[in-house]
Amino acid sequence: MNRDITVLGLESSCDDTAAAVVRGRKIMSSVVADQTALHAAYGGVVPEIAARAHAEKLDLCVERALIEAETSLSEIDAIAVTAGPGLIGGVLSGVMMAKGLSAATGKPLVGVNHLAGHALTPRLTDGLDYPYLILLVSGGHCQFLRVDGPMAFTRLGSTIDDAPGEAFDKTARLLGLPQPGGPSVERSALTGNEKRFAFPRPLLDRPGCDLSFSGLKTALLRQRDQLVSEHGGLHPQDISDMCAGFQAAVRDVLVEKSKRALRDSDGITGFALAGGVAANTQLRAALETISSDHGVVFVAPPLALCTDNAAMIAFAGAEKYGEDGADDLTLSARPRWPLDKKAPAALGSGKNGAKA
Ligand code: KG4
Ligand code: ZN
Repeated sequence: MNRDITVLGLESSCDDTAAAVVRGRKIMSSVVADQTALHAAYGGVVPEIAARAHAEKLDLCVERALIEAETSLSEIDAIAVTAGPGLIGGVLSGVMMAKGLSAATGKPLVGVNHLAGHALTPRLTDGLDYPYLILLVSGGHCQFLRVDGPMAFTRLGSTIDDAPGEAFDKTARLLGLPQPGGPSVERSALTGNEKRFAFPRPLLDRPGCDLSFSGLKTALLRQRDQLVSEHGGLHPQDISDMCAGFQAAVRDVLVEKSKRALRDSDGITGFALAGGVAANTQLRAALETISSDHGVVFVAPPLALCTDNAAMIAFAGAEKYGEDGADDLTLSARPRWPLDKKAPAALGSGKNGAKA
């Protein structure tokens, strides 16, 4: 790949409208307009509201990204856009915008898989060499991928039901904590005792790297209802203890499955973490420890590049462009788009659709 090409990236597949300019591995600008406030009243992302907000905000984000990068469309070498998977209205908004820009400027158009954006981020941030293992953990996805190239992904295991971020969000909802659930559960867990409640560690008794989180959520619901019926309500300490117990269960499951995935990955240069749940401090620390035990480098990109952003799309677009060239204006928006075409369809698409 030509390291010096400058790519404008667009991302609009869930509830973040984002645009960024990336040159080689240098992030010239990265603008993210999040829609949290628009969806707050509904307890989750409302696809129609998201799509409309993307359509309204995309051009402003692009304008801002170009200004902050001190560049202009004429200096851009290619336009990369998330073409799936995700909420289709949002993906369409981005793809239409990118096609318009490409048609107007004559610049090459590159359709990027959102998951590839996350999966290639360790190369953008840390220059990690192929092949490496990555654990993608977000609001809509949880999978182990072996990454052998910009378009060569092998799935070693994935969730058979909920994604961990979705489970964090549901836990927050059950305990009356604000959305998104991950940060609020993590905050509450800081003052909790993870050993007070014995939450299950699903699927650890089965071989392989597949994961499950729905039983954990059910256990938490039962525990909450039991406390409410015994004491007539929840004490703040109960909430913190449940958050700590839940977070510890997710961590333990991800740690054990990561050990297995590492054992199954010959010749890798490192182990990386990506997706919104990668923001979790405890999880990062635990995975760092097992990576060093296994003798491989651990890469956890900065938080702003773990959650949805367009710099990862611009970078993945540059890598894909180098390997496979541009797409034409028939590029379509795809609600589902598995990275590993050989792997069977993963169950459970998450509340946000098939996302990462
Ligand atoms: O990748 P992302 O920004 O969006 C997609 O799902 O594509 O991930 C968002 C998810 C949410 O479910 C959120 O609750 C979770 O990441 N999350 C966290 C933390 N920060 C965000 N989960 C656990 N701990 C966190 N600190
Ligand atoms: Zn994502």
